[in-house]
Amino acid sequence: MLAALSALWLLLAAAFLAVLLLQLLQAPRGAPPSGLLQDLIRYGKTKSGSGRRPAWLWFLDVPKRWFSHFYILSVVWNGFLLLVFIQALFLVRPLPLWLQDLLSAFGEASQNQDVGDKHLSALLVLILLWLHSFRRLIECLCISVFSNGVIHIVQYCFGLGYYVAIGLTVLCQMPANVSNGKIVNLSHNVPFGDWFERVSCPHYFAELLIYISMAITFGFHNLTWWLVVAYVLFNQALAAILCHEFYVNKFSCYPTHRKAFIPFLF
Ligand SMILES: NC(=O)c1ccc[n+]([C@@H]2O[C@H](COP(=O)([O-])OP(=O)(O)OC[C@H]3O[C@@H](n4cnc5c(N)ncnc54)[C@H](OP(=O)(O)O)[C@@H]3O)[C@@H](O)[C@H]2O)c1
Repeated sequence: MLAALSALWLLLAAAFLAVLLLQLLQAPRGAPPSGLLQDLIRYGKTKSGSGRRPAWLWFLDVPKRWFSHFYILSVVWNGFLLLVFIQALFLVRPLPLWLQDLLSAFGEASQNQDVGDKHLSALLVLILLWLHSFRRLIECLCISVFSNGVIHIVQYCFGLGYYVAIGLTVLCQMPANVSNGKIVNLSHNVPFGDWFERVSCPHYFAELLIYISMAITFGFHNLTWWLVVAYVLFNQALAAILCHEFYVNKFSCYPTHRKAFIPFLF
């Protein structure tokens, strides 16, 4: 039977695939569509480029610069999980009881692989996840220059939940016994250079590659992690086509050979 966490990732991947297909079916000509769904999927520059929004929706907006909260939470929460996991592995100290309960409620019993391998894979992925979150936090605090873009409060809560769930998902994979750039302005310009010459959102593509590399670290055959990868794929593909559409509508000279998300393909 599919464990609760696998079912969650499957559901999220399916939901984002459905919205992605819906978005692809709507011809991206003229003014971008508006409405509650659009309000929930767009954020930052692609939200400001969408149609007129009813005034009451503004009350549900929070600043996009609050993205840093996701990574503060992730660094603290996943750092805590990493610490207790290391203590469990090397000092044979049991995980806190509440965490054991949480893991057994959401996780699945892992089989068919050497226990030592599983511990090492989970440890490596947790370290990679923590480093990734730390790098993103530094990026948010010291490199990213956020304009006055907003995100929906639902997206904000979803982001917080995401970084809690992702660390628990990693722990559930183990057996149960254990810039120097100058700011020119705050407007959005055509990005160029390196991978930006091939796709509009190479950073989203890189995000996908990061999660695939974690799936490889888990030894290719971890279904739950492939469901996480599927979720990241559809989530980032959706964000990428909205961003691509934003650039095509905003810049008449936008390079036509540029794909949205995956070089040469999509
Ligand atoms: N794993 C997940 O589920 C997940 C979900 C979402 C994001 N992420 C990751 O989080 C990272 C950031 O995502 P994001 O959606 O915030 O990226 P983004 O919209 O491209 O924004 C990143 C930064 O670049 C600025 N920017 C964006 N487009 C620009 C342009 N054309 N000209 C000048 N500045 C521009 C943004 O400013 P503004 O904010 O003012 O636009 C912001 O400071 C990415 O690596 C993404 O993969 C992961």
